[in-house]
Amino acid sequence: MATTQAAQQQTLRELMIEEIRDLYDAERQLVKALPKMAKGATSEKLRSLIEAHLEETQGQVKRLEQAFELLQEKPRGKHCAGIAGIIKEGSELLEEDFDGAVLDAGIIAGAQRAEHYEMGAYGSVIAWARSIGEGDVASLLEETLEEEKGADRKLSALAESSINQQAASEKSMPSNGGNGASRTSAAGSKNGSGKRSMAPTPSSKPGRNGSAGRSASRRS
Ligand SMILES: [Fe+2]
Repeated sequence: MATTQAAQQQTLRELMIEEIRDLYDAERQLVKALPKMAKGATSEKLRSLIEAHLEETQGQVKRLEQAFELLQEKPRGKHCAGIAGIIKEGSELLEEDFDGAVLDAGIIAGAQRAEHYEMGAYGSVIAWARSIGEGDVASLLEETLEEEKGADRKLSALAESSINQQAASEKSMPSNGGNGASRTSAAGSKNGSGKRSMAPTPSSKPGRNGSAGRSASRRS
């Protein structure tokens, strides 16, 4: 029986290490992707939120290296297809015709997908680490999990306090040109990149915007 238990622990430890390698790769992919998302954001607040999370993400990579050290394993990544897919969708969004607050709403939705993916993975790894007696690893990665939750909450708050509302008013601009115009131009003026004009085309493709922050906050 002792042998069986030891074998089970070994298996879960291996699964945990594999998941940590997956996260190590995911965080490093995000270190590369977040600057692009920040650059694409038209809202200053959104941009600085993403930049702040980039800094946290760099620390999260270091924390995972510490976890490898605690587990006496080499810090090695394993391609994380999940986060790669989320990042790919995010970069595709940047190529589309969304602009202003509508684009920002989409960026928030993409960023929250990434946060939720990570939260799920860290949650499992932390639980596994505790169950096999790796409390130090669990405590270390709990710090990261709290950062991911914090980033998710801040994104929801930003979407709900301003961006979704701005995005909703931008959508109505081309049809009457009146009451939505001032808000739209205010949102447009935040666009430091000057990447796109405020063309009316986004209104014809509302896409998946508008409910991003709200639905995410319901989840959290
Ligand atoms: Fe992260």
